[in-house]
Amino acid sequence: MNDSLTARAADVFLAAFGQPATIRVQAPGRVNLIGEHTDYNGGLVLPCAIGYRTVIVARPRADRRMRVVAADYDDAIDEYALDAPIERLAAPMWANYVRGVVHELLQREPSGHSLPGMDMVIAGDVPQGAGLSSSASLSVAVCTLFSTLPDHPGLGPIEAALVAQRAENDFVGCKCGNMDQISSACGVQDHALLIDCRSLQVSPVPIPAGAAIMIVESHITRGLVDSAYNTRRAQCEQAARHFGVPALRDVDLATLAEKGDGLDPVALRRARHVVSENARVVAAAEALAAGDLERMGELMAASHASMRDDFEITVPAIDRLVDIVKDAIGDAGGVRMTGGGFGGCVVALVPEALVEVARLALARDYRAPNGAQATVHVCRAAAGAGSL
Ligand code: GLA
Repeated sequence: MNDSLTARAADVFLAAFGQPATIRVQAPGRVNLIGEHTDYNGGLVLPCAIGYRTVIVARPRADRRMRVVAADYDDAIDEYALDAPIERLAAPMWANYVRGVVHELLQREPSGHSLPGMDMVIAGDVPQGAGLSSSASLSVAVCTLFSTLPDHPGLGPIEAALVAQRAENDFVGCKCGNMDQISSACGVQDHALLIDCRSLQVSPVPIPAGAAIMIVESHITRGLVDSAYNTRRAQCEQAARHFGVPALRDVDLATLAEKGDGLDPVALRRARHVVSENARVVAAAEALAAGDLERMGELMAASHASMRDDFEITVPAIDRLVDIVKDAIGDAGGVRMTGGGFGGCVVALVPEALVEVARLALARDYRAPNGAQATVHVCRAAAGAGSL
């Protein structure tokens, strides 16, 4: 936890608005242990919230104006009225995540008149563009902020996550699934979350004592992520249509083998990733609950190979990172790429005693194409969004 974040936001608030903030909320980023590109296929994921988060300090206004300051962007301000149509901006993007959630919340209230205006300052320490869901943590923080208002019907964590997801899907224009927002809203300290992305059931699974979650940033800029993501989504939908089911969640490996003929071979490989990944998530939740890091290691290795060979979302530098960490930790733990793909981070689950071994190997053997060293974060699974 970084309480200097809240203090910085409070200072900026006082300087910008001349009086102190009255509400403080936070929402964390997330790292996904296993279950990649399964969420929008109605499937299963096993992420956890992390100790990097977005903090918002705010003060409701008597009128219907919004004044939103981004402490991480030179205190840039976005101002608008809740009574005029809320438009998506060409830039800056951070403003659209706030606007999107406000827009969604107004849609939920037919009268549209119970949402007050708000002065707010946003500050965050979730690494951006690294696949750790800085944007979901911002949208969920905005939902959480409005949920704390006494005369406003509070949203439960799942509802808040779905509002945040809709804001990203429909307002910002990113067709993401629901994993990131649910992880941020529903995180449980020292637990991973087994999320059924169709039924929305969330089952916390304890992270074994003595296991460290290592997040390693590759410093590979994720290029063309949105178009590659949308292409994968379309290929999965094409495969689901071929099998005559609403989503790939409804296909098992036997059906894939029996009825895969006639499906485009690329779509078939995409489907094989999703179907096998769902099965791995179930096995991983069991292994984690049993404290079996060796089994987690096997499943994470199989997940990485499937993302590399069938879903084709890894890049050489990421494969290299995974190999370096795997060589360092052996069978004692697991490592795989995490998040949407094409760069970003790898996640490792390792006995604490091996963290330094892996760190040394990375410092010795990894350089990004631009010469940068990998950045290593050792995290604990964190609680979800809430008041501070
Ligand atoms: C991104 C999306 C998520 C999920 C992952 C891949 O993080 O926002 O909804 O699809 O990619 O698992």
